[in-house]
Amino acid sequence: MQLSKLAAVVTGGGSGIGRAICQRFAREGACVAVVDIDADRTRQTLDELSTKGPDCKHHAFTTDVSSAESVAKLVKEIPEKFSVTPTILVNCAGITKDSFLVKMDERSFDDVIRVNLKGVFLVTQAISKLMIDNKIKHGSIINMSSISGKTGNIGQCNYTASKAGIEGMTRTMAKELAEHDIRCNAVLPGWIESPMTQAVPEKVLTKHLGMIPAGRLGQPEDIADACLFLASRKSSYITGTSIEVTGGLFM
Ligand SMILES: NC(=O)c1ccc[n+]([C@@H]2O[C@H](COP(=O)([O-])OP(=O)(O)OC[C@H]3O[C@@H](n4cnc5c(N)ncnc54)[C@H](O)[C@@H]3O)[C@@H](O)[C@H]2O)c1
Repeated sequence: MQLSKLAAVVTGGGSGIGRAICQRFAREGACVAVVDIDADRTRQTLDELSTKGPDCKHHAFTTDVSSAESVAKLVKEIPEKFSVTPTILVNCAGITKDSFLVKMDERSFDDVIRVNLKGVFLVTQAISKLMIDNKIKHGSIINMSSISGKTGNIGQCNYTASKAGIEGMTRTMAKELAEHDIRCNAVLPGWIESPMTQAVPEKVLTKHLGMIPAGRLGQPEDIADACLFLASRKSSYITGTSIEVTGGLFM
């Protein structure tokens, strides 16, 4: 098992990609902190995780990643629940509020930037302080960006700005945290089947499916596998980079 006896924090763990990451990490022996704003979905993910014995219990936390107060509460509670300091963080919480540039209201822009971009800042700042204070070894932070942050996407000026911002912030985090033995990378998923993409009109999905060299939409497990690689020692010389998991879309 690649993550045996390690603790991992996964935001957005209540659904889709985040839930698949929690499951993959748990199967690899990690103790998982499932973090999400939705208490019911967080609990559901927790219930589905395999238990690994008394030293490795998983725990659920209801947290709004965009609120400094809520994140402070999370970081206070984590050491109370886990016997080891987390060495892995995956920032996966995210939202969309799509609209054409000329029609988008200010609230939709602000909300997406607040959750997707500021949320990564707040959680990473708090968890990396915990890692540094406890002198952890071999830390790994993984930020969920998107291929649309690189290419742009019609109707998503707020979302693509947040996801491009995550890539830039990831490179800064990688530079600042390297001296503390913490690596920081971004993952850029393409089209992944999840509750988020269920909201996308069928004709848009069909059009994009035709552009994917792999000939299929991605599954949350495809992203979880990439996160496992970045979380594990198998990627110990990789930091400050972005990995595209897109089936070849927009290569
Ligand atoms: N599905 C895709 O095709 C795709 C593609 C590229 C990037 N992504 C990114 O992957 C991540 C996961 O996407 P998904 O498809 O699993 O979406 P999803 O909607 O299934 O899951 C997102 C989760 O984030 C949680 N969340 C939302 N706001 C939050 C907040 N303020 N605090 C804490 N949790 C919050 C939601 O409750 C939900 O459980 C997102 O960051 C998304 O932008 C997804």
